[in-house]
Amino acid sequence: MQSVIPVPLPHQPYEVVVASAGLDHLGAWLAKGETPLVKPGQKLLLVSNPAIFKRYGDRARASLTQAGYTVETCLLPAGERYKTLSSIQKIYDAALGFHLERKSALVALGGGVVGDMTGFAAATWLRGVSVVQVPTSLLAMVDASIGGKTGVNHPQGKNLIGAFHQPRLVMIDPTVLKTLPTREFRAGMAEVIKYGVIWDRDLFETLEAAPRIDQYRYLGDELLNTILTRSCQAKADVVSQDEKEAGLRAILNYGHTIGHAVESLMRYRGVNHGEAVAIGMVAAGKIATSLNYWTKPEETRQLKLIEKARLPTAIPPQLAADDILTLLQGDKKVEDGQVRFVMPKGLGAAVVTGDITRAQILAALAA
Ligand code: GLY
Repeated sequence: MQSVIPVPLPHQPYEVVVASAGLDHLGAWLAKGETPLVKPGQKLLLVSNPAIFKRYGDRARASLTQAGYTVETCLLPAGERYKTLSSIQKIYDAALGFHLERKSALVALGGGVVGDMTGFAAATWLRGVSVVQVPTSLLAMVDASIGGKTGVNHPQGKNLIGAFHQPRLVMIDPTVLKTLPTREFRAGMAEVIKYGVIWDRDLFETLEAAPRIDQYRYLGDELLNTILTRSCQAKADVVSQDEKEAGLRAILNYGHTIGHAVESLMRYRGVNHGEAVAIGMVAAGKIATSLNYWTKPEETRQLKLIEKARLPTAIPPQLAADDILTLLQGDKKVEDGQVRFVMPKGLGAAVVTGDITRAQILAALAA
């Protein structure tokens, strides 16, 4: 099974390929045609973390080597707390040691942390070399690997340092999800549900109709392929209309306003990003009902789908509503002092608004 989703950006169009055994076809995709994405013979620096590399590194490397590339690897410690400038320094050191040139490329094999850091290193090394994204988590497949947001965290906040740097290719091999821990699979499912709510009602209804969506093993190849293809298509549609987040792209932050506050107040422990987004979507959904952006039955359908994915729906009891509100004021999504919220407009569309009052947020948090 294979789908190809174009991301038609004017200065750098590229494709997202969803293909079983995509890992083994990576080299051939990069090398094919009269004007290959990266010319065979070039050097590639494969960036990963030790656990992912142990599972999938040999296959990725073999496919690249067979296509004629010279491949070196750079392994970074796993986890969000290593998404720092010192990890980027390790990539630069490897690039220097390996004599990476302007026509060389970096290949990110891993989840969102590896992808964001490899993308940022590629954006800045020699003022920009190509990057290829090979995401291995559901979250990275449907979100982080597409759209060119790259970067690292600052001790004071997530993703404060970064650059837009679009990949040359995103290669998604759904079979690698077999080894993804269930909790991380569900976290990715939160972003899939998000696309259903804000962009693709058919996707939402496909998820509703599926017998189960809470574990990889219940999905089957065809449904998984549909979920990946439609989610990537949603992201590609939005990003190609608004690459640098001048407007529309902000709808991708649905559920993220309160979600980020929850993650941050929990100090990134006990709740992962997808879980926080699920909690944020439930809260945003309540505000949307109270302001007539959508109906109570639509809010309930969203809640049921999030429960079906076995994601959390309630603000952790140890967090106070006031603390969440205070944190929202310092969020990146604040503009002219107003917290920007994404509101679903029925199922399958969304708008960004700065018109939500403190009282309305408090009422949703208390509900
Ligand atoms: N993850 C949100 C975006 O790419 O804009």
